[in-house]
Amino acid sequence: MPVEDGLLSARVIAVVNQKGGAGKSTLAMLLAGALAEAGGRVLVADADPQNTALRWARAGAGFPAEVEDLSGEEGKLHKHLRKRLDDYDYIVIDSPPHASAPVTESALRLADLALVPVIPSPPDLWASLRTREAIAHARHKNPDLLARIVVNQAQLNTLLAQEVLAMLPEFGIPLLAAQLKSRTAYRQAAALGATLGALGHRAAIASLEVDALAREVRGLLDGL
Ligand SMILES: Nc1ncnc2c1ncn2[C@@H]1O[C@H](COP(=O)(O)OP(=O)(O)OP(=O)(O)O)[C@@H](O)[C@H]1O
Ligand SMILES: [Mg+2]
Repeated sequence: MPVEDGLLSARVIAVVNQKGGAGKSTLAMLLAGALAEAGGRVLVADADPQNTALRWARAGAGFPAEVEDLSGEEGKLHKHLRKRLDDYDYIVIDSPPHASAPVTESALRLADLALVPVIPSPPDLWASLRTREAIAHARHKNPDLLARIVVNQAQLNTLLAQEVLAMLPEFGIPLLAAQLKSRTAYRQAAALGATLGALGHRAAIASLEVDALAREVRGLLDGL
């Protein structure tokens, strides 16, 4: 949210999923890039020691969000970030593939919104059940925590994908309407250290997809 809209304290988005490779870092960086390009002051808190987000930002010049390795904060991440809420409009936390790791618990304790990227395939869905438990557990201390599943690498033309998507409501976490399809542009953005916007016309459709996602997320958070 741009400063002129008068938001005083950052909204915190934690991107979480127990399942490795579900698209946490991709979602975190695409979203952070889009929020920053829309005028927001954005921090990406890289809470994963793999440092995918940090490497992404360093692969190019001029990524518009600040990206910082905070994986060493572990269970104190929420305390660290709480002191910095006034410096940003959005803080996006990229978490490791361990839903009950201290750093993930800490992220969920502070977050306004948990985003759970899920690839619509049965093993991914099964592995994500642990994430649902982690979110439920976090609500003991953070009762207002919102959560949404983000369908990632969607291939809606296959019957299997449609069947899996039909199962998602049973997961107990509502779906974000916006989805991310499987696109080369998202890998290119990581390779070049860029946002989708910076890739220009070659990523025009992908860019619309990410902007729609960022708009929906802003809408959820602005309503708080
Ligand atoms: N929508 C997409 N389209 C194309 N490639 C994607 C998409 N989402 C993720 N990928 C690719 O899939 C791989 C895993 O994605 P990513 O690193 O974002 O997952 P992760 O959940 O952060 O993994 P980890 O659990 O290891 O942190 C990466 O190579 C990434 O480029
Ligand atoms: Mg990652």
